[in-house]
Amino acid sequence: MQQTEKKARENWGSRFGFLMAAAGSAVGLGNIWRFPYLTGMNGGGAFIVIYLGCILFVGLSIMLAEFAVGRKTGLAAVGAYKAQNRNWTFAGALGVLSGFFIMGFYPVVGGWSLAYMVKSVTGLLAAPEAIGDYFGAFISAPVEPLVWMVIYLAINIFIVAKGVAGGIEAAGKILMPMLYVLFIFLIFRSVSLPGAGAGLSYIFKPDWSVVTGQTFLAALGQAFFSLSLGMGCMITYGSYLNKKENLPSNALTVVTMDTSVALMAAIAIFPALFAFGVEPAAGPGLVFVVVPQIFAQMGGVGVLFSVIFFLALTIAALTSSVSLLEVVVAYLMDEKGMERKKATYITSAIMCVMCILSSLSMGALSGFTIFGVGFFDFFDILTDKIFLAIGGMLLAIFVGWFMNKEELKQEVTNNGEVSFGLFEAWYFMVKYVIPVLIAVVAYTGITAIAQKSLMIFGLLVIVVLAIFSKKL
Ligand code: TRP
Repeated sequence: MQQTEKKARENWGSRFGFLMAAAGSAVGLGNIWRFPYLTGMNGGGAFIVIYLGCILFVGLSIMLAEFAVGRKTGLAAVGAYKAQNRNWTFAGALGVLSGFFIMGFYPVVGGWSLAYMVKSVTGLLAAPEAIGDYFGAFISAPVEPLVWMVIYLAINIFIVAKGVAGGIEAAGKILMPMLYVLFIFLIFRSVSLPGAGAGLSYIFKPDWSVVTGQTFLAALGQAFFSLSLGMGCMITYGSYLNKKENLPSNALTVVTMDTSVALMAAIAIFPALFAFGVEPAAGPGLVFVVVPQIFAQMGGVGVLFSVIFFLALTIAALTSSVSLLEVVVAYLMDEKGMERKKATYITSAIMCVMCILSSLSMGALSGFTIFGVGFFDFFDILTDKIFLAIGGMLLAIFVGWFMNKEELKQEVTNNGEVSFGLFEAWYFMVKYVIPVLIAVVAYTGITAIAQKSLMIFGLLVIVVLAIFSKKL
């Protein structure tokens, strides 16, 4: 583990280490599991175009803003807000809450991935026709997915309890590059299947007639989710960042890596999906149904590749969930003076309970709903459709209206050492454009969505947090 000179705060071992960790946080189930199925549910190409717009006009700027706030204050989400203005503590706390909630379902999917790695060897690929049904039966079983989830969560606990530089960095460095190579391979296989062309036109020829207010909210939420924004995760990571690093270029690199993986996942999945006649709107199972089918067609090497694919997916998921857990742990350490190990154990015990409920909501508890949805969807929709976007909006308002512009400029440009010609444009986006944009998208999306009571509950939670801001 690495120690820093002045403060006791841990620091990144190297620039490469930071990039890998930040990109590792961003690239995860969001890109590979969630992006393709959301694309399928929202009509294909048009969703992708809107998503890319959200990344370019909102995500990139917020990424830089989070890095800047984190490094400037040297504190995790809550502390970073609090240090500037006590009334804003709630915005950080909202982030911690988002992290908590995302960890209420993320490890469930991480567990599926872990399970599929093992199942690749134990016969999953032997009956390609049954892969779709198999997935449905597996995730709705009462015990098996829970076991995998617990193993997955335990790995997280191990990494986070060990501390930043030691754990996260090492994991990210090895498997991220591997994931890229695998996807390139998968894309070649997928597009050469008979009937693949329909999949390519599905994602590259936008059909605008399917776009609604909800499409924009889904794309915006996914942009935040995929880039790990809107909950102080990148603030926390930025706080571990060295004063010499170039923030704008790091932000651009992370965003580019994240977006390229999401696009690769879509390009790998949709051609095969059409070739196999799977429904594009089939939902959360896409990657677990389509990818094994590609491998199943390849015989013996298919098994090997499938193991590697799900190993890489599990690692990508791990480097993300570790960052989520870290946000919550860093809060307890920085603000409540808790010791790292204790904070990790307490936090993950609660997450484990939430994950059990989420997993069971796919089967045994499927009849039980809160605000009209099961536990899995409750945690998912609440964070992705409200908390992250509002968290991003609050951050933009905070940076634009409550921080000193000159100081921000010094931070973003390393006191003038880094030339960042777009500073004014970035500042304008963050101060004026993004808050309004998010407000409009959130409003139209929330009014169009089916789960209204859940949305109102989410907004109430934010208001309550704001009222108790000074106590957090
Ligand atoms: N970005 C990750 C993914 O795509 C998930 C994630 C990690 C996340 N940290 C986050 C999402 C912080 C929102 C906020 O899988």
